[in-house]
Amino acid sequence: MHSSFLSPKNILRRDFLRALLGLPLLGFSGLSLAGCESLSLYPETGFRSPGLGALARKKGRLYGAAVKSSQLNDHRFAEALKREVALLVPEGELKWDALRPSPAEFDFSGYHRLAQFAQANSLAMRGHVLVWHHANPSWLVPELKNKKTAEKILRAHIERVVAETSPMIRNWDVVNEAIDPRSPRKDGLRETLWLKALGPNYISQVFHYAHQVDPGLTLVYNDFGLERGDGYGYAKRKLLLNLLKKLKTKNVPIHALGLQSHLRCHLPLGGRDFTEFLKTVRGLGIEIYITELDLDLSRVPGEGYERSTFAQNYVQTYLAMVQESGSVNTLLTWGLSDRRSWLEDALGDAQGSLPLDTNYQRGPLWESLRSGWLRA
Ligand code: XIL
Repeated sequence: MHSSFLSPKNILRRDFLRALLGLPLLGFSGLSLAGCESLSLYPETGFRSPGLGALARKKGRLYGAAVKSSQLNDHRFAEALKREVALLVPEGELKWDALRPSPAEFDFSGYHRLAQFAQANSLAMRGHVLVWHHANPSWLVPELKNKKTAEKILRAHIERVVAETSPMIRNWDVVNEAIDPRSPRKDGLRETLWLKALGPNYISQVFHYAHQVDPGLTLVYNDFGLERGDGYGYAKRKLLLNLLKKLKTKNVPIHALGLQSHLRCHLPLGGRDFTEFLKTVRGLGIEIYITELDLDLSRVPGEGYERSTFAQNYVQTYLAMVQESGSVNTLLTWGLSDRRSWLEDALGDAQGSLPLDTNYQRGPLWESLRSGWLRA
């Protein structure tokens, strides 16, 4: 469907449909003109314009994607990566369950595969993730016998992982998904293995450990659902803001907030409350990244153009809300193509959820990023 995505005929049809739906035009005619201006073909790819990574770089920004090392076996996928991204995030290779087959062992093989590919193609990398309540090996919880042992295990893990991935990785998701509005705790902290082992200060502890191991690292707190316009989103923003304020007051080295941005397109967006939240976070001296963008369209009615038009409008509105709070210099999607994405695994059909379609052709999200994120 998207192989003829940039043809003028489709652009007109799309604008016509937008008008029909009463939606603002997204400036695709402008986009197609921009495309025509640079008709010089990139012969190695057969594509008419550079990829998102190169386009972003021209603006001093960074576009990247989460990738599984096994995806590199697919030649077309690897070529698409080279064409489109400037940065790779190992999708699972730096999680505890991949790195730690046993208490005494580390296995960096998956990471090294990705790092070699990144190096050979001059791509940057960022790290995901030092502490998360998912993807832990089964030996871990029984080993966290008391606070002292738990601290030792955590510190040793961070030391080794940072040492092994340095100097390639200078930017880390340090703590992932620590806030849960459904937690019975007043502070909204999720009751994770680390909270149980170390107490509520575990978050500052992890950031301090990472900073001590290498003071040059950029350290990020990462979470999902912060954009939502329902009770969950409002509650989560409030709880996270309290946490970030507390961390900053205690001089915890935290440099950016990662908005995962797994957008569930049937839910309302947080609007002004969300934008104000982001402005307050920035006011604390914390930068905003978009770290895991993708679109869950499974509960959006309709199909074909109507559905992709809705999706484009949704993601453009989201990006405008984030960018109203300030610029977004780092944007990452969670995967690159609708084929082999985690949403494909979860939903069966993930059409339109990522920048490239199942045939590795540029799709609606690709266009939205170029005309939404990169236009501002
Ligand atoms: C997901 C991976 O994409 C899957 O392949 C894996 O099975 C489970 O984890 N938020 C995160 C990511 O921070 O680490 C998750 O990645 C997706 C949700």
